Amino acid sequence: MDVPLYLRPRIEPPLASLLGAAPFLHSLVDALGSPLNVLLPETIAENAARFRAVYRRHRLTGRLYFAHKANRSSALVRRLAADDPAAVGIDVASLEELRHALGCGFTGDRVMATGPKDPEFLWLAARVGATVNLDSPRELEQLAALVRGHGLGRVRVLARLSGFESTAGQSGTGTRVLSRRSRFGTPVRDAETLWSALERHSDAVELTGLAYHLDTTGLEEKARALEQCVLLMDACRERGLAPRAVDIGGGFGVGYVADAGEWQRWTTALSEAVLGGRPPLTWRGHGYGLRNEGGTVRGSVALYPGHRPDAGPDYLDELLSLPAPVLGREPGTLLLEHLHDLHIEPGRSLVDQCGLSLARVLDVRGTGADPDPYLVRLGMNAGDVSLEEHGVLMDPVLLSRGDPSGDGRDGDPEAERPVGVHLVGNLCLEADLITRRLVFLPRLPRPGDVLAFVNTAGYAMDFHAHHAQRQPSARTVAVEREGDSWRWCPDEDYWPITPPGGTPA
Ligand SMILES: Cc1ncc(COP(=O)(O)O)c(C=O)c1O
Repeated sequence: MDVPLYLRPRIEPPLASLLGAAPFLHSLVDALGSPLNVLLPETIAENAARFRAVYRRHRLTGRLYFAHKANRSSALVRRLAADDPAAVGIDVASLEELRHALGCGFTGDRVMATGPKDPEFLWLAARVGATVNLDSPRELEQLAALVRGHGLGRVRVLARLSGFESTAGQSGTGTRVLSRRSRFGTPVRDAETLWSALERHSDAVELTGLAYHLDTTGLEEKARALEQCVLLMDACRERGLAPRAVDIGGGFGVGYVADAGEWQRWTTALSEAVLGGRPPLTWRGHGYGLRNEGGTVRGSVALYPGHRPDAGPDYLDELLSLPAPVLGREPGTLLLEHLHDLHIEPGRSLVDQCGLSLARVLDVRGTGADPDPYLVRLGMNAGDVSLEEHGVLMDPVLLSRGDPSGDGRDGDPEAERPVGVHLVGNLCLEADLITRRLVFLPRLPRPGDVLAFVNTAGYAMDFHAHHAQRQPSARTVAVEREGDSWRWCPDEDYWPITPPGGTPA
């Protein structure tokens, strides 16, 4: 085999020390089964503190709303509910997420209701005093009718916008740029109609801000949208509306792969493999969006950018510091000068380093194929760790059975060399691959070993989990450091006043 093409994950403390406790993790899987999700509730609070430090650096006020959709856990939501109410709220995108947030200790005034909403969701949001992030003028009509029909108090609303247009280039003489299309929010070109509707319904709703969420990593596109919101807020004021916050949604991102060089090498090798210049790196030559057209690589890689030096709070900092295209001010300065609050809705980035998914190795089978002769079957399926679904590629960490160091150096030297394997799931389905990528591990796993997929708390842990073939879906536990060891409790039993498995503080 060539040099192993590792994509080793970025692992920071305390996740790193949790992985060092291989016997503890093995004992959890022995007791609770495979797959198993493990969460670190303290880390979400630390991540929130990092975002707040960026607010302080830019002297901005406003709230961080955790995008609940990233993870179903109660422990994470309860831990955030215990945080500073003025600074930390929650973004819920369904009736059940709203009920869950309230049950975890969030009061209605800390809740932002986003996404498309059915009448029950709208009613409960209005009833508990949540802010409704309006998806469309039609939703505004529905909400206003509910408020009047049920004698509810005036509801705070944000107007979610999409289809931002702007002119690229500092001088304003460049080309017209349209932000990516979205099926959510009111297109900016229809803003006038929306403002009129908000005026018409001012007895039922109060416009407190404008919002967007752009599904892109592009900083400039986001900065342009932010600037347009500020301009539109000026226009709103002129007609007597009084929005005072800009909600810039989520999408601050996570750096999954530790080493830029490994990411670079792997993506280069993928192109070479697509061209046939090296053995395939994927199951049946899958190209992740790339294809060979007459000896030239065509298409674009449909993958999450694995190595991201500036993600999460650093990305927010960069966005706020970017020169703005039209008004000539950095977005942070612009918000400060206009005395606008800044709201954010981080999902993935807020649960960065907050957990891992464990799977027991059930079977290791040689196929005789070269260069990727091994199928490693796990006690989980692709729905249990849906990294592939989100285009996130990174290696699992091999936790050897009976090897406290977890580094795998405990057996036959021939089996101790790096090896490329295909990780397959527990469903009777050809397509059930944990990843289509050939995964390089420091040695061939053995049945009974555990693979730890780290940093799965954002969308990969439970977003796509299902009960096909009645396979068990993962239980989730919360863990916390206790001196040199770890204690745990079921996710649903975690409360921020009680250490996992311990007595109330
Ligand atoms: C409205 C809205 N806000 C926030 C988020 C969270 O995005 P991320 O997890 O990328 O931070 C999403 C994700 O889909 C969203 O739709």
